[in-house]
Amino acid sequence: MLEGPSSTPPSPEVNSVPTHIAIIMDGNGRWAQNRYMPRIAGHKQGVETVRGVIKACMERGVSFLTLFAFSSENWRRPSDEVASLMQLFLGALEQEISKLHENGIRFKVIGDLSRFEPKIVEFIDIGEKLTANNSQLTFTIAANYGGRWDIMQAMRKMMAQSIESPIQIDEEIFSKYLSMNYAPEPDLFIRTGGEYRISNFLLWQLAYTELYFTNTLWPDFDVQELELAIQSYQQRERRFGRTSEQVQIALPAEG
Ligand code: IPE
Ligand code: IPE
Ligand code: MG
Repeated sequence: MLEGPSSTPPSPEVNSVPTHIAIIMDGNGRWAQNRYMPRIAGHKQGVETVRGVIKACMERGVSFLTLFAFSSENWRRPSDEVASLMQLFLGALEQEISKLHENGIRFKVIGDLSRFEPKIVEFIDIGEKLTANNSQLTFTIAANYGGRWDIMQAMRKMMAQSIESPIQIDEEIFSKYLSMNYAPEPDLFIRTGGEYRISNFLLWQLAYTELYFTNTLWPDFDVQELELAIQSYQQRERRFGRTSEQVQIALPAEG
């Protein structure tokens, strides 16, 4: 049977634990404002949440965790908030890279690094190189990332190399130029903070991802909240275009 020219996974995943979880960490500012604290206090607390989520993903056997930390649009924020976020990012890189390495975590950053200060770029580089051969969990931070930026940079790179003639380019070839070419597409997408939008996150890769939204603000997102998201994911039937009956037949018999 012809499958058609789609690069989305050919058969439904039956893994109970998502292989790849991608999260938009939203609600830091509101968390702080609810406590009459400056927004940056929420961002700081958000870093604590990141630690907990990494640990929980390791324990559950998740292979890829991707977190949206700063979007291409976040430069539009007040300059003091942007500056504080950069300081926080730099501090976290300084403190955490060795710990990530000790825990066997591979660290990656996706996004346009050209706008970051040299020190940040340097730490990212050191971190990626140091942890390159680790295999416990691939932890990706999306920083100055935008899904449209990613598609554009992939297209430019592909055209500059011009190995393929246009007629030969297919989804699989193109996706090799995307910045997250080392990871399978996310199985589960989580957005905290009660907003129902993708905000220019992984546009290409989210084509068939299961979406989960929660009102919980990121600093309050704990292991139980992650558990709820995974439980919701486990109740989904991933059909990838097929009918429910087809999916049921393809599933291996239980027992
Ligand atoms: C998300 O929290 C973190 C970043 C975008 C850096 P927000 O800062 O967007 O928090 P809210 O949405 O204002 O509450
Ligand atoms: C953007 O969050 C994604 C990140 C968490 C970095 P925002 O809170 O800035 O998203 P919008 O602009 O409100 O959609
Ligand atoms: Mg927000």
